Amino acid sequence: MIGQAVNRVDGPLKATGRATYAYEHWEAGRPLYGFIVGATIGKGRITRIDTEEAEGASGVQLVMTHLNVPAQGTRDESIPFEYWRAQPMLTGPDVHFFGEPVALVVAETFEQARDAADLVEVEYHAGRGRFDFGEFEDDTYVPKTLNAGLPTDTAVGDFDAGFARAEVKVDEQYTTPYEFSMPIEPNASMAEPRGEDLVVYASCQITDAARDSVASTLLMDPERVHIVTPFVGGGFGSKLGIHSETILAALAARMLGRPVKVTLTRQQVFQLVGMRPTSSQRVRLGAGPDGRLAAIAHDVTMHTNPDVEYAEQTAATVRSLYAAPHRLTSHRLTALDLPRGTDVRAPGEAPGMLSVESAMDELADALGMDPVELRIRNEPTVDPERNVPYSDRHLVECLREGARRFGWEDRPATPASVREGRWLIGYGMSAAIRGHFQGPTTVRVRLEPDGTAAVQTDMTDLGTGTYTILTQVGAEGLGLPLDRVRIDLGRSDHPSSWGSGGSWGATNSSTAVHRACAALRTKLLDAACGDPRSPLHGRDPAAAVFAGGDVAIGDASETLLEIVARHHPDGVEAEGQTRFMGDDPNYSDYSINTYGAHFAEVGVDGDTAEIRLRRMLSVFSVGRVFNPKTARSQLIGGMIWGVGAALEEEAVVDPRSGAFVNRDFAGYLVPVNGDIPADIDAVVLEGYDDKANPLGAKGIGEVGICGSGAAVANAVFNATGVRVRDFPITLEKLLPGLPAMV
Ligand code: MOS
Repeated sequence: MIGQAVNRVDGPLKATGRATYAYEHWEAGRPLYGFIVGATIGKGRITRIDTEEAEGASGVQLVMTHLNVPAQGTRDESIPFEYWRAQPMLTGPDVHFFGEPVALVVAETFEQARDAADLVEVEYHAGRGRFDFGEFEDDTYVPKTLNAGLPTDTAVGDFDAGFARAEVKVDEQYTTPYEFSMPIEPNASMAEPRGEDLVVYASCQITDAARDSVASTLLMDPERVHIVTPFVGGGFGSKLGIHSETILAALAARMLGRPVKVTLTRQQVFQLVGMRPTSSQRVRLGAGPDGRLAAIAHDVTMHTNPDVEYAEQTAATVRSLYAAPHRLTSHRLTALDLPRGTDVRAPGEAPGMLSVESAMDELADALGMDPVELRIRNEPTVDPERNVPYSDRHLVECLREGARRFGWEDRPATPASVREGRWLIGYGMSAAIRGHFQGPTTVRVRLEPDGTAAVQTDMTDLGTGTYTILTQVGAEGLGLPLDRVRIDLGRSDHPSSWGSGGSWGATNSSTAVHRACAALRTKLLDAACGDPRSPLHGRDPAAAVFAGGDVAIGDASETLLEIVARHHPDGVEAEGQTRFMGDDPNYSDYSINTYGAHFAEVGVDGDTAEIRLRRMLSVFSVGRVFNPKTARSQLIGGMIWGVGAALEEEAVVDPRSGAFVNRDFAGYLVPVNGDIPADIDAVVLEGYDDKANPLGAKGIGEVGICGSGAAVANAVFNATGVRVRDFPITLEKLLPGLPAMV
């Protein structure tokens, strides 16, 4: 079952509208609707807030402000990850960023709540905020560690000396903008009080984190908080934690003793969930005439919110990517009065590889060398910074196979040398690498008396395919047909996981299911082989084969149903676990990563600088694949995200107010179908990484994004001879340098 292109088992539910999202749990009864009122200044203080008129408006049940909000817990920095900490709201008159909630209006209908929200009168004393990254870019500090616990800075050898001696050099500055996750389902929540308990229908990636966060904010026993999140309409980092939508719904529900639901509007999503930090990156590469790197440095400055530090691992990928004796990476932060930076798909790796893989293209150009060949020449034999072996590195195979399939040998050797009418045509490529992570996850597998299996975990499915691949792993583990395995996800009352994020969800939960099934098989075999009533009695359990609902040992066999009925009339269950990577020696003894190579062809209109992606092909090495259909969909989605990073995505801050000015999909552009050619494909090499986990599989959610934007950017350079280092590459940056059209 594992490795087959099984259709999504939850497909029919989604196609018929029966998959229930956070805002739609009708079984909770008639809920009230909350609408968030956001601050209209970016920094300062509320001097007066008058809720009288709003409270008198039709249908209004409550107007919550800092003046009447119940007591809340505070953020506890000793809890290792932000997403598990309290997220108190409406904590006082101070305003920390534009759009910060200053009130929640709760009414019988959404329209009444939104209407009354306009009647809340707020006066402010506006202070001088730090809003403009460019202005404060040099006023930095050194974060203690990066997100994910990686070191802030690294140094190997003597970079300055190595770089000074290098014959061919690149020393360039790149910038990347604020970007948002923007799932289709906006962040939303419904809280339903049940006696002392609180059921929270949330839209979240990590159920366990949501429960802890709600409980510690509302000063509740976590056992009394029940998170329910069976379906999630995308997350991409914006739902790793919960936000004002969940906390305010929960507070209001407890105050009123009724279910309350709160959704962010699309504009509010741009203000209230955090964004990828903007960055300025210096990349220095020093090589010999043969292309071999002597020195690599990647120095990054990013914005952070002053209260909630967030330091992306932007320079971390380069630590494991290429060989070079002299190396340097650093991360610096400048505090701005903006929403907190947060994880946005491939956090750090996406903007970091955009720059590094552009710089590698610049080096290839300076050397007059093929960019594929340049990367192959710098292939390391061991991880050059950690000095440990790679578990299973196939970057060179990805590069060669991608070049062959794409027809890379037809690449225009000279930039701006190929035209088709008005169109300038170019090819670009880049390498991809991303670390593979593992987190603590427990799964329970239950064999029911009716012979079906139930897999229970608080793991989520964001649309990624969790239901489907866990069905496959469970079916294989117990030798059952797919339709006899049920997956029950997204309940905090189930065994806890690290949820969906960091590309770890599929492997963490599948490995735990695999182990739970093994434990269950042992229980069943112990019972059957030791029982004179079983045809398996006295046989060697090690020789057992589970298939088609039967257990066979040699020529004897019995159905699972018979074994369960005889020995476990109420059903039988077992748990399986994965542990935190820090406690798993493989993760310190080996450098465990996923790899890829991206190839893109673009056309650039010689008169208008309009850029069209014409085709794209990427080849990946990610260990074993659970399901080629869901995997390809994930990888292509990632590649397209990279296209957006190269050409479209950019949230712009008004330096006077700290507001994001283009806070909707009319102004914040993401690739749509019309931007992406039909000729796009992701190919995965056969693989099995025995150091990652017993299934040999690694994460695929984010490696597709890593470097894919650089392949597009490099193709734009190859087409035009113009190098844009200030992402995204928009027309006005490209137009002035275009060659004359005759
Ligand atoms: Mo991902 S940015 O960990 O959802």
